[in-house]
Amino acid sequence: MTFDTIKHLRGRLPADDNCVKCQDLTPIITIDGPTGSGKSTVSRLLAKRLRYHYLDTGAMYRAVGLAIRRAGIELQNEEEVAKICNGLNIRFIHEGDSTKIYMGNEDITEAIRKPLIDLMASNVSALDTVRKAMTRLQRKIGSQGSLVAEGRDMGTVVFPEAEHKFYLDASLEERVDRRFQERKKKGESISRKKVKEDLIKRDYQDMNRRLSPLKPAKDAEIIDTTKLNPHQVVERIIKYIGINLKYNGQQTTDY
Ligand code: DC
Repeated sequence: MTFDTIKHLRGRLPADDNCVKCQDLTPIITIDGPTGSGKSTVSRLLAKRLRYHYLDTGAMYRAVGLAIRRAGIELQNEEEVAKICNGLNIRFIHEGDSTKIYMGNEDITEAIRKPLIDLMASNVSALDTVRKAMTRLQRKIGSQGSLVAEGRDMGTVVFPEAEHKFYLDASLEERVDRRFQERKKKGESISRKKVKEDLIKRDYQDMNRRLSPLKPAKDAEIIDTTKLNPHQVVERIIKYIGINLKYNGQQTTDY
């Protein structure tokens, strides 16, 4: 299914012969935001609540970062970077409440969360070749609908036709605190100062890159999560989706 077909199916373009399954397609919900905004936890909880699929696109960029690092390829070497992207076999395996990420037969769930990969993922995500390959893959996954898609450009670039878009944000200090606590829990010896420095650097890169920079989509609902726990954020999103469905004159879905 092509991306244009998705638009047809969603009624954003006039129907054509390919649009026979329109009524079968269920919504895509996009959740974007910076590091520490709570988007991963919220997206996972929301997907579980709605029984939707959950797509962690940050993990995909992390996997590319890990693969490029291991292969020792210079980021300027477009040909080799393209080879890595095209040969990448990433799988998400959902086990209860957790999701394992595999590259080929290797479980890379832990490896892609190392601090070194934080920045590497941000670096590779600025490359045209990488973004094109990941966007293609993400749209393919999205073509099945019923998806909570989490990342930096879900509402702006990858799924601009998504029915519901959210952008989560929180104060810098709160985001640093969340990341710091997360690192401490994992037993990593890192200072709060260093966490803050890394986070500011990554925010800057992600928000100021030429391609698909992190920003809220024009039609996204912005939620400040500074004083909210993930469950409260999920409640807000569900409430908003319910109101939105009523407003459009469609049947309200009772989740
Ligand atoms: O959400 P995360 O921290 O796992 O993302 C890692 C990096 O991947 C992030 O710094 C920027 C990049 N990324 C992106 O460019 N576009 C996305 N949709 C998701 C992540």
